[in-house]
Amino acid sequence: MFIVLEGIDGAGKSTQARLLAEWFEDRGYEVVLTKEPTDTPFGKLIRRLVLTGGREGIIDGAKISHEAEALLFAADRAEHVDKLIRPSLDAGKVVISDRYFYSSLAYQWARGLDLEWLIDLNRFAVKPDIVFLLDLPVKESMNRIRSRKVKSEFDKIFELQRKVRENYLKLAEMFPEMKIINAMEDVETVHNQIIALIETLLGEK
Ligand code: TYD
Repeated sequence: MFIVLEGIDGAGKSTQARLLAEWFEDRGYEVVLTKEPTDTPFGKLIRRLVLTGGREGIIDGAKISHEAEALLFAADRAEHVDKLIRPSLDAGKVVISDRYFYSSLAYQWARGLDLEWLIDLNRFAVKPDIVFLLDLPVKESMNRIRSRKVKSEFDKIFELQRKVRENYLKLAEMFPEMKIINAMEDVETVHNQIIALIETLLGEK
């Protein structure tokens, strides 16, 4: 089973990914917990060229063209799919990824790139069984990650996150595998909502 968590920065993806991995492990499944951008040389290149500020998300990406940015994320993903995701799924493991190509659609579309081009570019990416979109208002996410941000960039970041959230919600209408989860709830409640959907999916398999 291939599971993806998506959402704007500060939505709680990594916490929920960890809890979900533990849930599967407790039930005897072999789990691969992974993320994008990856920790491979490709991911490191992205961190250096696009995410130079460390915790500031993609706001610094103006240093390279938006197209180059999208291609770098896609290259990182191609390696991720080829070297880790596909082999792990073939070996019968549960793969949980903190971000996947939906991030490219939401963020690079917010940069002004053409959505159809982005979808084509990511056509190679194996489809997940389910994608949890952890949705919350940008104001709340900004409060959660305030400490990660540079103050002078606040307005720019806010505007970008607002567009990204809107894009995610539009994508959820286009991709039936995407399930919207209210990320305003506490960690436990969000986890339980995710588990309920996973149990339904396991029942169908
Ligand atoms: P993030 O999940 O914050 O990674 P980390 O916590 O390891 O630094 O992701 C970094 C940023 O990259 C985030 O703002 C979203 C952005 N991003 C894209 O713009 N496109 C993509 O395809 C991916 C995977 C991430």
